[in-house]
Amino acid sequence: MLAAHWMGGILLHIEERKIESSAYSMTQRWLHWIMAVLILTLLLAVEVPKGGVKHALTVWHKEAGVVVFVLLMARVRGRVNSGAPSIFSMSGSWQEFLARGVHGVMYLLMLSVPVLGVLFSQARGKEVDFLGFTLPVILDEDQGLPYALTLRTAHEWAGNIFLYLIGVHFLSVVYHQWIRKDNVLKRMRIF
Ligand code: HEM
Ligand code: HEM
Repeated sequence: MLAAHWMGGILLHIEERKIESSAYSMTQRWLHWIMAVLILTLLLAVEVPKGGVKHALTVWHKEAGVVVFVLLMARVRGRVNSGAPSIFSMSGSWQEFLARGVHGVMYLLMLSVPVLGVLFSQARGKEVDFLGFTLPVILDEDQGLPYALTLRTAHEWAGNIFLYLIGVHFLSVVYHQWIRKDNVLKRMRIF
């Protein structure tokens, strides 16, 4: 996985760029919340049982997934340039190490899950539309059909792991905000 290797290198680089400011840049904060809404709604959309609106929800799932991939490029760029504020209440501790590890895995999932989604759709012969255009075919049905099921399973597994990690992430923010009462949520606030 060249992409994962490349992403790992970037993550190592950006983890060294912790900054002393008390909050993320405004661009990083907006990107975080826009992407969080997209990811949560696209995950909800896919959990709805088959029925009348299922098709529209699957269309939303795919379109929002591609937007996540596009925005991720801007987000990684911002992260490389601006770094992340150090977590005052736990600077240098194992909890900070764990939090940064979870963030790193979430970045990898924001990259790999949409890519797997596009690949498995194309491999089983379904074009992926984005804002009225058809995305270029990376893996066509002739070559991809034998891998379609594996790619689909990988997409679903990684997507479900992502869902659990988001839960862990959410609970840890709740813990910081209401039990430790530190600045973790404040540094991601847009209002
Ligand atoms: C951040 C982006 C994405 C996440 C987190 C995500 C996650 C998921 C999850 C959790 C499932 C359901 C797994 C299950 O049934 O247990 C799923 C299904 C699916 N995903 Fe994604 N996905 C993303 C992006 C995409 C993209 C970009 C495409 C295609 C262009 C795509 C196509 C699909 C399709 C076709 C299904 C099956 C839907 C169904 O039959 O109900 N996904 N995805
Ligand atoms: C739905 C998907 C979500 C994803 C993919 C996500 C992802 C991330 C990532 C990758 C970071 C690290 C940013 C960086 O250092 O570059 C982060 C930070 C943060 N997120 Fe989320 N997040 C999500 C939802 C949420 C929700 C619902 C909350 C509110 C409870 C939240 C609150 C925060 C806060 C306060 C930070 C800063 C914490 C810190 O730097 O230690 N996030 N998020």
